[in-house]
Amino acid sequence: MRGCADEEDHADFDRCGRLSNLGAWHAKSGASVVTAAMANRPDYGVDAPGVVRGLALAGIAALALAGIDAAWLGIPWLTIVLAVIGFALLLASALTLRNALHGKFRHRDRILGHVDWRGDERVLDVGTGRGLLLVGAVKRLTTGRGTGLDIWSKKDLSDNSIDRTMNNLAAEDVTARCELVTGPAQQMPFPDGSFDVVVSNLCLHNIRGSATRAAACREIARVLKPGGIAVISDLMFVSRHAETFRAAGMTVDCDGPYLWDAFPPQKIAIARQPHSVSTATAADANRGTMR
Ligand SMILES: C[S@@+](CC[C@H](N)C(=O)[O-])C[C@H]1O[C@@H](n2cnc3c(N)ncnc32)[C@H](O)[C@@H]1O
Repeated sequence: MRGCADEEDHADFDRCGRLSNLGAWHAKSGASVVTAAMANRPDYGVDAPGVVRGLALAGIAALALAGIDAAWLGIPWLTIVLAVIGFALLLASALTLRNALHGKFRHRDRILGHVDWRGDERVLDVGTGRGLLLVGAVKRLTTGRGTGLDIWSKKDLSDNSIDRTMNNLAAEDVTARCELVTGPAQQMPFPDGSFDVVVSNLCLHNIRGSATRAAACREIARVLKPGGIAVISDLMFVSRHAETFRAAGMTVDCDGPYLWDAFPPQKIAIARQPHSVSTATAADANRGTMR
């Protein structure tokens, strides 16, 4: 898919496609059979696994150098500096891991708590990964349905794949109310005004280039129905996302930053589409940008 050149390390880009009625797909696909044992255990993965590993290894290396300095060189200030850096890096790695294993579930509820749910909404989770927000949102619905959009980048989430996400949907018993779509946030394969609610967590900062991130925000505005709401949480660029939403005619509030159960600290932009205004502004702006 053209217009996505700055995402070329995401291997699935030219295979943008849609999987709906996942139960039926399971039955037909020999390659992606989800066993009952797997389906019993939802697993939402570790965000940015390379960063968590890198911080831990750098921390251990700094502590080792502090030990070497103390034992052989005997430069006290260097020992202290290296030890402080080592502990800080290990702490950052541990907090990021703790967020992946525990904190992100509380942060998910915080994000979804910004929506006054009726139960019949069409919901889009942008950068759904293993379906953390998608599952949480669909469990708040009665007749509504959820869609998860992603490019399944493994550097952004451990073992990221559509199969893993399908396994989680089955384990959470929400398969029949969900569809998964492969595609980029900055060029969504949905008609204008498709969704009542768009949510996203830790996705948009992964998109390289401020123009492309802005295009993703305009796509969110475009696919929202009049009166719809977008709740976007991220660790960077949230104020700029808010500006782009305002330029697309939305009203925006910001929440956070949250530190302890959303490490690294995250902010939330809550953007509302006016009831009376069409999505033409955002749609036209993005058609011009992505051509
Ligand atoms: C850190 S993970 C977060 C996953 C999930 N939202 C969560 O909170 O657990 C970021 C996700 O964004 C996806 N992603 C990155 N760039 C994207 C893009 N341009 N379009 C759609 N998804 C993207 C990655 O594949 C990954 O699944």
